[in-house]
Amino acid sequence: MDQAIGLRKKGNNEIQVDRIVTTAISALQKPVRVISVSSGKGGVGKSNIVINLSVALDRLGHRALIMDADLGLANIDILLGLTPKYNMSHVLNGQKRLEEVLVDGPGRVKIMPASSGVQELTRLTDDQKLLFLELLDGLETDIDVLLIDTGAGISDTVLYFNLAAHERIIVVTPEPTSLTDAYALIKVLYSKHSERHFRILVNMAADESMGKFVFAKLSKVADHFLDGLSLDYLGTIPHDKSVTRSVLQQRALLEAFPETPASKAFMQIAKTICRTRPNVNQGTIQFFWKRLLNV
Ligand SMILES: Nc1ncnc2c1ncn2[C@@H]1O[C@H](COP(=O)(O)OP(=O)(O)OP(=O)(O)O)[C@@H](O)[C@H]1O
Ligand SMILES: [Mg+2]
Repeated sequence: MDQAIGLRKKGNNEIQVDRIVTTAISALQKPVRVISVSSGKGGVGKSNIVINLSVALDRLGHRALIMDADLGLANIDILLGLTPKYNMSHVLNGQKRLEEVLVDGPGRVKIMPASSGVQELTRLTDDQKLLFLELLDGLETDIDVLLIDTGAGISDTVLYFNLAAHERIIVVTPEPTSLTDAYALIKVLYSKHSERHFRILVNMAADESMGKFVFAKLSKVADHFLDGLSLDYLGTIPHDKSVTRSVLQQRALLEAFPETPASKAFMQIAKTICRTRPNVNQGTIQFFWKRLLNV
């Protein structure tokens, strides 16, 4: 009898081991979609967009990891009322493994908190880069999308993340300065780094038709001056007081006010992202880091 139970247990264990091995192999080979979210001008809603798109993608069955690569004041952790103990600098110092600095966000969303370490990433020696890549082992399990909040402007760090990502979302608002600054960012990425594909997300527009009008204005200027550039309209998020209310509550909009117009727009845009995959080679997360670190 005991022996029979023993055999049955062994059988179950073997099946489990098989499952774990198969899952691990498929996780390792699973391509991760890396999307950067940037803007020319600050304060256009990038961090809120990264948070809520991640939650929306998670609800659609795509597990998201947010990388907070912005060193500005309105960090992802503050917007979500989180107080991370560790950040990227602890990983770079060798004090923590990458998995140990990740923080749980809304739903199944994970967050890699910001630190000055993000800037250091671009200045590592080759040996440090390799060491860092080793530290990344084990991270890629069960992540489908990596969304990077790059911060605003055209600093080296912003450009770096835009070049390493598979897809680039540029956030604009109807304000003329937001458009001219977005154009400046696109122009640098296009003319100095030959980047040709950008997806434009209009935030804080009165409605969708205003969003499309803003997109048309930007693409008209870009078409005029930049040959071979492709700007895709990703969608519009309306100006909605519930966004500010969710910021005050330090909660993701989609969790605090799921039925408001802005929440519905986020779900719609996440669906568009899932439906439309650009024709690029998507590597694993390690591949992204290698590109980022230029190893
Ligand atoms: N759709 C919206 N409707 C109304 N208010 C919004 C909307 N999107 C963003 N906001 C407001 O704009 C503020 C700035 O948003 P957020 O911090 O996400 O911008 P950001 O681009 O990340 O800024 P920074 O460049 O400083 O990092 C938010 O606190 C919020 O109050
Ligand atoms: Mg921000």
